[in-house]
Amino acid sequence: MGLFNIFKRSKFALESRDIHSHILPGVDDGFSDINDSIEAIKRLSDKGVRELVLTPHINPEIFHKNSESFLREQYEQFISHIPSEIEMSISLAAEYMIVPGFEKRSSDPSLLLYEDNESILVEMSYLYRSPNLEDAIFNLLMDGKKPILAHPERYTYMADCLEDFDKLAESGCRFQMNYLSLTGGYGPQSMKILSYLKKQNLYSFSATDLHSLKQLDLISKKIR
Ligand SMILES: [Fe+2]
Repeated sequence: MGLFNIFKRSKFALESRDIHSHILPGVDDGFSDINDSIEAIKRLSDKGVRELVLTPHINPEIFHKNSESFLREQYEQFISHIPSEIEMSISLAAEYMIVPGFEKRSSDPSLLLYEDNESILVEMSYLYRSPNLEDAIFNLLMDGKKPILAHPERYTYMADCLEDFDKLAESGCRFQMNYLSLTGGYGPQSMKILSYLKKQNLYSFSATDLHSLKQLDLISKKIR
């Protein structure tokens, strides 16, 4: 049985820390209803998640309102509505699209980083490679940040240059896998990347990248 089928059939446990989610309601293409967000948090808690990081998209080309200060305000409002009986530590970071010019923001003090104050989640389009990917990663590293590239297995245009992932990893970039990618739903090119990164042991994190309760249903089917 090839790696492809092994992954498709295998069940997994959620990591106790989910570093990538779009549960902060009403700010991007993720959750829109606060009640659904709270439901998702309850269900993740039941599945053993103890630490959740909300990572709304920051992409000035698409989500025009999502400045760091706006997202901080939305976050403060949201967490005031979370029932106190839910035992989960929740924090705010962001998922930065590597848009043209993003490489110039590496030392910007307003960047939404993880609680270690160093790690930052970045992504690229599913359609094309950011021409400034390497510059963005390099500049972040030079400025003392620890970049995490979200769901590399979804950048199917990189399936024929897998060695580029090794180069990124050697430079200090870390990778985060989406649980849903394990279902094979993103196609054979995605599975090729995923299998390679698994084999090379290059994934530092797995995360839900949760956008909806429907996605949580799909993920739940795969959990042991
Ligand atoms: Fe995401």
